[in-house]
Amino acid sequence: MTRVLVVGSGLAGLIAAVRATDAGHQVTLVTKAALPDSNTRWAQGGIAAAMFPDDSVESHVQDTLRAGAGLCDPVAVHVLCSEGPARVRDLIRFGVDFDRDESGVTRGLEAAHSRSRVLHAGGDATGAAIEAALVATVRERAARSLRGVGARLRVQEHTMLVDLTVQDGRVTGAVLLGPDEALRTILADTVILATGGAGELFPHTTNPALATGDGVAAAWRAGASVADLEFYQFHPTALAVPGTPLVSEAVRGEGAVLRNALGHRFMLDLHPDAELAPRDIVARGIAREMTRQGGEPVRLDATGLGRELLERRFPTITAACRAADLDWAVESIPVAPAAHYWMGGVLTDIWGRTSLPGLFAVGEVARTGAHGANRLASNSLLEAAVFADRAVRALRLPVRVSAGVSVVTGSTTGGLPAGVDRDAVQQLMWECAGVLRSGEKLAEASVTLADWATRPTGPDETIAPNMRVRAYEDANLLDLARVTVASALAREESRGAHHRSDYPDGRLELTRTVAWTRTVAWNR
Ligand code: SIN
Repeated sequence: MTRVLVVGSGLAGLIAAVRATDAGHQVTLVTKAALPDSNTRWAQGGIAAAMFPDDSVESHVQDTLRAGAGLCDPVAVHVLCSEGPARVRDLIRFGVDFDRDESGVTRGLEAAHSRSRVLHAGGDATGAAIEAALVATVRERAARSLRGVGARLRVQEHTMLVDLTVQDGRVTGAVLLGPDEALRTILADTVILATGGAGELFPHTTNPALATGDGVAAAWRAGASVADLEFYQFHPTALAVPGTPLVSEAVRGEGAVLRNALGHRFMLDLHPDAELAPRDIVARGIAREMTRQGGEPVRLDATGLGRELLERRFPTITAACRAADLDWAVESIPVAPAAHYWMGGVLTDIWGRTSLPGLFAVGEVARTGAHGANRLASNSLLEAAVFADRAVRALRLPVRVSAGVSVVTGSTTGGLPAGVDRDAVQQLMWECAGVLRSGEKLAEASVTLADWATRPTGPDETIAPNMRVRAYEDANLLDLARVTVASALAREESRGAHHRSDYPDGRLELTRTVAWTRTVAWNR
């Protein structure tokens, strides 16, 4: 039995664990891979916060609301933008060394921000710098805890969330798959999910392979409400080479431009802000241009920025280009959209509380309402820091437990049915629920996924050794593909990251969130 079980070790999970130990709770942190392995580590652009004299919380709020295309929860946005600067100062105290010049902390401009307000570290290695500082803090506290001095924090690496346990309407713990491939249950007063997104739903993603939506899937199976799943953000510019490395928005913020195969700067025709239009507009512009040129990626031309700036400001991207035999100081590079960030997730209030008592969700796994239909660049690290901190503060708040039937989940079997593999799920999602969608394609995908979901998987014993994590991930991806497609079918309009050719315009009456629980969705 632990007081607080934190699942996941990106920025949100690490902050939750540290803050909960600060508050005197006994904490267990479990994570699927090694402690530093997370989506956070891959974040390049930075963290947005209104911390400079020419900026204001209100301006950050307005930019966030505009990008969110009418679907943000204004209260969540206000919380995000007003508490953001304090949480960035916390990160500095934890040892994050944001880039500076002679006038102080430097800042970048990214798409749809009306001010330069994006702090970065190591040039384009912001996530890695944040992750390293927080991992060091957590490791130091866990070591002290082992010696019986100070914090009570236990860390279990290589431990995957399989399911949540629910009793009488309250989450009571989690079923976990350990490094020995055995299932164990940890009971907890409170479970804080910080498991990140699900880029692995798609064949092209900027996420690491561990982003398989385990927390959203487990919460969904346990009966928690999920929302906005139809809004998956596709980053416009991933390098179109194997491994799909991200080419940060900040590169366009510095002045790089997009060109089609004929060398034409097509974004000038699509939006007054051209390459710095909101992400969904740029991603769709590129996707359409690619269709016109037979699937060939478009080119990002950063040659005007000069070698010195490119290498100093973007060392990670420079290395990725080099590894692909590209020299972006002298040639344009091939880029294409890739799945990047899930605006939807487990529905929470502004304290990270989900619809199930005892269960919190923070970071990308959560749908706080701060992003609406389209997240503003560099608001994700901020959201993770702000809402993880709030969730820990909310542990003190009274819990309302509705009397309910006693359900204990944990019976999920891993794997996909015979003849279906992860590639097939990803390909189907890309074709039917990718950057450009249509009702017809979504309906086809829904039928195919329902068929796959009802076919039996092989018996548990047939899962090969060392393949259990993958088998449970596959089962999660299939569940999430189904509910994402159902959500995309239900939203009969185009808004933010969700664009349907059969409903090309937004509809006033749909400026509301579609939240689902398991029974509602499968009964549709
Ligand atoms: C980027 O650097 O373009 C990604 C930043 C983000 O997704 O917020």
